[in-house]
Amino acid sequence: MTSRRAIGEHLMFLGKFLRNPRHVGSVTPSSRALAREMARAVPVSPAAVVVELGPGTGALTRQVIEVLAPGERFLAIDIDPEFCANLRARWPALDCECGSAADLPSMIAARKWPGVDHVLSGLPFASLPAAISRAILAAVGRSLVKGGTFTTFQYVHAYATPPAVKFRREMAADFGPMISRSLVVRNFPPAYVLTWRK
Ligand SMILES: C[S@@+](CC[C@H](N)C(=O)[O-])C[C@H]1O[C@@H](n2cnc3c(N)ncnc32)[C@H](O)[C@@H]1O
Repeated sequence: MTSRRAIGEHLMFLGKFLRNPRHVGSVTPSSRALAREMARAVPVSPAAVVVELGPGTGALTRQVIEVLAPGERFLAIDIDPEFCANLRARWPALDCECGSAADLPSMIAARKWPGVDHVLSGLPFASLPAAISRAILAAVGRSLVKGGTFTTFQYVHAYATPPAVKFRREMAADFGPMISRSLVVRNFPPAYVLTWRK
């Protein structure tokens, strides 16, 4: 990434956060260290279907694209049209839907995919309205194949706050216990990467 593009994307991200903090959830895109840790959970198989929720400026998308096997199906979904346009300009071959993650089942059906093997999420569940979070988690639960995995991150400083704890409790109720948790210090702010299996 050129530094001019990086600066432009950071400014775009900050501007979006200032206009809509609950839906963007962070003042800056994820670091490469966090993106790499998130991408470690992506299954590398030509038969797999991988979905990213809330790609924003593409910090995680870039790492996912690097690890995908040839032929592996990958869909990125963001609700913000400007983020989507930026992603499509950067990766013209990227399958990017501009819409709500809550509509994941119909997006999968439209592609005639049998289900999703892995979802990685950069959505700010701790700040999204509770009804939207519930609808998105229900959509993920319906779309994942049995044994499919869901990976997200939570910032360390907010890990014990009621919305973060509530999210993990809802995940445990829907998916069972978390199967892995790793700490990424090289991110602002530091974050835990969390994975559940359906
Ligand atoms: C914290 S940003 C994460 C961006 C990127 N994944 C990263 O880690 O740098 C959250 C992203 O979620 C998107 N978003 C918020 N609500 C959404 C929804 N209901 N469906 C899809 N995307 C949504 C926002 O537009 C934003 O791009």
